[in-house]
Amino acid sequence: MNQFQITPAVDATQEFIEIANDFSNPLDLVREAISNSYDARATKIQIAFDVIKQYGESVLRIAISDNGSGMNSHQLQNFFDLGNSTRRGDSTTIGEKGHGTKVYFNSAKIEVETSSNAQGFHAIMDEPFKKLHNRQIPIADVIPRNDIPDGTKITILGYNNNRRDRFTHKILKDYILWFTKHGAIENQFRQNDTPVELRLKGLGQDFLENLTQGHTFPNDSPHINKLFEQHLVKAPDYYVKKILRTGSLKNRPEIKFEAIFCIEGKYAKYSYNEMLRRPGYSPPEGAYTIQERYGLWICKDYIPIQRKNEWITFKGSEYTKFHAFINCQDLRLTANRGSIDNTPSEILQDLQQETLRIYDEIIKSDEWTSMEWLEDEAQAYQTTEKEKKNFEWRIKKVNRSNVCTFNGLTLVEPERESGVFSIALLLSTQIPDLFPFQILDYDTHEGIDVIAKGNKSTPITSAKLFYVEFKQTLTGNFNHSFENLHSVVCWDTDIKHDDYVKDINSEERKMQIIQPDNGDYTRHFLDNPKKAHKIEVFCLKKYLKEKLNIEFSPRTSHSIF
Ligand SMILES: Nc1ncnc2c1ncn2[C@@H]1O[C@H](COP(=O)(O)OP(=O)(O)OP(=O)(O)O)[C@@H](O)[C@H]1O
Ligand SMILES: [Mg+2]
Repeated sequence: MNQFQITPAVDATQEFIEIANDFSNPLDLVREAISNSYDARATKIQIAFDVIKQYGESVLRIAISDNGSGMNSHQLQNFFDLGNSTRRGDSTTIGEKGHGTKVYFNSAKIEVETSSNAQGFHAIMDEPFKKLHNRQIPIADVIPRNDIPDGTKITILGYNNNRRDRFTHKILKDYILWFTKHGAIENQFRQNDTPVELRLKGLGQDFLENLTQGHTFPNDSPHINKLFEQHLVKAPDYYVKKILRTGSLKNRPEIKFEAIFCIEGKYAKYSYNEMLRRPGYSPPEGAYTIQERYGLWICKDYIPIQRKNEWITFKGSEYTKFHAFINCQDLRLTANRGSIDNTPSEILQDLQQETLRIYDEIIKSDEWTSMEWLEDEAQAYQTTEKEKKNFEWRIKKVNRSNVCTFNGLTLVEPERESGVFSIALLLSTQIPDLFPFQILDYDTHEGIDVIAKGNKSTPITSAKLFYVEFKQTLTGNFNHSFENLHSVVCWDTDIKHDDYVKDINSEERKMQIIQPDNGDYTRHFLDNPKKAHKIEVFCLKKYLKEKLNIEFSPRTSHSIF
């Protein structure tokens, strides 16, 4: 066989389909259109979405017009070409790939009316989507016209199979102010040479709304003392401090970046972003959470491309405090502009390092300390408030509690273990033989227990020592061991005669309640026939009544204790 050559060919229809479908988010159309109008130096842009009736069917109509440079015949050719860009090599424009308008091919009709230097054209392309899928290159019919004002008007019918859920006015507005040139963060670094007016009418809205140029940031909050005075515990959520940084990459000083880190509390975010979900607010269709939207965005052309929270934070949701962007014109985007992953990894690494440096500097800065101070203050305030509430609750409780007087002492009916202990201690100092043990030492670390001596006359060194446990209510599950347990002192018990009580070692003991005979008191024992010692349970409620005739009753309005 003779030597021969191969000229690689392009399957044109397939490539058109690939590129048109590669823009996966239907809103990408809006971003591409706005970029093209900005590239044409327009100062007025209008975007209107409507649903019109055609042969009884609902058809989505998107009309984008601008007063930019318009297109000459060559540029109009580029408009329909794939990969031919009039903007290539111009560093002042966004366009570079000749891909953008191909997103329009995913439609039933494209109509372009454009005029450059008083020479106008009217181009119509019918059924681009259908034709491409029939492996036909769709043709645009062009009529020269000189009655068209300078600028461009593009009308797209039946885009994306007429799906229209993403084109509500609020979703569009949010998208434009976050992800298109009109919402670019550039205005934070320099004044726009010529302001651009963009008017939008999305679905569900019947008038054009003027969208202010540039991404929205809240104003810096007032001095922290004032902020705290105004919002108290919510003060950290109202904190705003915008920090701008510019620089160049360490290993490639020719590559510049510009960054804006806005430290922003959640209420500050709510104040300007109606799309944020929050408690007690029914948000518009397409709403999102702070976690879903905020953090650090990497930008090209000052338009956010990809979020990289992992560049600044390693754990948790610390990133939600930031409304941050870093722009670098040396990033290379994928064909659909959805990611920065075509950028050489050394550049990305350097940029990440710079970002981290800014982040580190910020969290060591006075601004960050201010916010942390507010958070601490808020917490302290909250604790004080809690204690105040707790105090009020305790006062109410004091008024509700049962009391009694004994030997000139006012005793309060215990409501917890510590109360049982106090009353037992108090009474046993008054009446030394109230209990058949003597308290030597107590510990409140894991519940209240005391070390006691059973026989009061034996010196400590030779006496056998035991535990005595205190409980508000003795129940069937005893959370200590019966081993070395002399007695239990409780306020009350729900254990009935012959019921079992189990300790932490699963030793079971039977409750024995012995009714008093003449002058004695009702005795409670926890009995195990295999063990010599019966554990006595002193149920103070009954015990104090029977032994000392102490009975508790509610405080009256005359009570002085
Ligand atoms: N609104 C407009 N005004 C003037 N010219 C336009 C407009 N929209 C598109 N064009 C022309 O159509 C061409 C193709 O646009 P397209 O968006 O596909 O590519 P691009 O902007 O050059 O590059 P990119 O793919 O990066 O957007 C542009 O280069 C420009 O000449
Ligand atoms: Mg473009």
